[in-house]
Amino acid sequence: MRYYIFCATLLLSSKFLAQQQPVFKKEKICVIGTGYVGLVTGIGLAHIGHDITCVDIDAKKIANLKNNIIPIYEPGLKELLIPAVKKRDNSKQSLRFNTSIDHEIQANDIIYIAVGTPMSDEGHADLRAIEATLNNIAKNITTKKIICMKSTVPVGTCAHAKQTLIKKGVNPLLFDIVSNPEFLKEGTAVEDFLHGDRIIIGCENKSAGERIKNLYLPLINNGMKYLITNLESSELTKYASNGILATKIAFINEIAQLCNKVHANVQDVATGMGMDKRIGNKFLNPGPGFGGSCFPKDTKALEATMKKNNLDAHIVRTIFKSNEQHKQVILDRINTALENKENVAILGLTFKANTDDIRYSFAIDLIENLQKKNKNIKAYDPQGTDNMKQLFPNVTYCTSKEDAIKNADLIVIVTEWDEFKTLDLKTCAELCRTKCIVDTRNIFKPQELKRHNFTYFNIGNM
Ligand code: UGA
Repeated sequence: MRYYIFCATLLLSSKFLAQQQPVFKKEKICVIGTGYVGLVTGIGLAHIGHDITCVDIDAKKIANLKNNIIPIYEPGLKELLIPAVKKRDNSKQSLRFNTSIDHEIQANDIIYIAVGTPMSDEGHADLRAIEATLNNIAKNITTKKIICMKSTVPVGTCAHAKQTLIKKGVNPLLFDIVSNPEFLKEGTAVEDFLHGDRIIIGCENKSAGERIKNLYLPLINNGMKYLITNLESSELTKYASNGILATKIAFINEIAQLCNKVHANVQDVATGMGMDKRIGNKFLNPGPGFGGSCFPKDTKALEATMKKNNLDAHIVRTIFKSNEQHKQVILDRINTALENKENVAILGLTFKANTDDIRYSFAIDLIENLQKKNKNIKAYDPQGTDNMKQLFPNVTYCTSKEDAIKNADLIVIVTEWDEFKTLDLKTCAELCRTKCIVDTRNIFKPQELKRHNFTYFNIGNM
């Protein structure tokens, strides 16, 4: 008898649990902004089954996207885009591109804001694009929407956005604001979207948060973790995460400078530290200082937020500064190595490998420094040349690494592209005029460089 009662309870509770399990629902979503974040988010959400329209005011960009031309180099993104667009009429997936923001706000239930929040001159996040988007939303809300903040915004922005909409006359019952920051890395954004560590959702209204969570059900069912919290905690999780990652990099770079002085090997120190699970071995690679569109701007913005809240945050206010100082140490070393030498070959222009993004790349500081000293610069990058050309038209851009190295007096490795890691040092030694390498990514083994009679400097051995 007891056994039957047990089985019946089990059956009932499993039925109850099954009823509780959320089921995937295809949602109609408009993603505003087709920059790096908006595009990966839009294409990713379409890939997992939603009905997506990506909108942007940039008509040329949208026209290109309609023809499957992606404005950024991001491995794997096109492979996701094409099937999502093709299956537009199929019941499973859909992805469209459009410039008509007003119409798309009206036509979709969920509005993702993914516009840029660049660094202002004062170091704050510039929220003008967010304000403009809120204006558009206010003018076009007639039915209930969830407004989901994907852009990286300082803590308090979502609450402020809600007040802004109300002030503009929008009925608060017509919308819920949800924060859903992104944690994608350029170069591995597709992988990070599909198999990232976590999804963070901040909300005031729990059911709106749940609805955003359920968008990601295929990923969650595949093991991705999620956390639902309040708006502010979610916004701050983004900045705190970028802050700690940038701190790890700035820290290992400072340790590398100490290694220079005390004959320690920074690679071994980093490996040894990383063996402690509490520290972990990720983001401890010494390099030319962090760059990119996120760490510099987000560490500065976090510093500004601390100040605004009357906090004298010792760690946060030195992350960016430490990074700038580190870059200067490398530039000083390069300048010393360059005495009586004229020709510099720069290998790598982007802020990291597998992207065409040059924002805050060490290559920018390096070219500025070399141009001031009237050095001849030849540069090669597999993807970043076109972007760098716009900033520095007077550099000689090469179509191969060999071409850049030819007759060089000094080779500077800026980016850790795979094709540089496999550089044939024998050919390299034959091509250049003076055998001298500054390896800011520590991609070469010092013994190998010595074997080919190179004078070399790397991070930790300047
Ligand atoms: C960073 C974060 O890693 C993402 O989680 C976040 O979503 C993103 O910012 C963002 O806020 O949008 P990203 O800037 O694309 O991603 O690239 P990272 O791989 O983090 O590299 C940033 C910089 O740090 C690069 O210059 C890279 O070369 C440098 N770095 C990274 C190091 O010098 N050493 C390391 O060990 C790791």
